[in-house]
Amino acid sequence: MKITATQDGPYLVPTGGKARVNGEVLEKAQVALCRCGHSRNKPFCDGSHKAAGFSAPAVEIELELG
Ligand code: FES
Repeated sequence: MKITATQDGPYLVPTGGKARVNGEVLEKAQVALCRCGHSRNKPFCDGSHKAAGFSAPAVEIELELG
């Protein structure tokens, strides 16, 4: 599994088609999680990182889940 920290933006996490968030099922191929701290819809990114001027490098994190 690969988590992508986008340039100046959120973490993109693949779900495989579904994610369960506090018991609620989201049918999405991926979720975008806030890493700037400014989202009004945490833990999800709502685009507020742009207005906040958040700056951070892109990073790809590969997980070997066993
Ligand atoms: S990363 Fe997008 S609102 Fe925080």
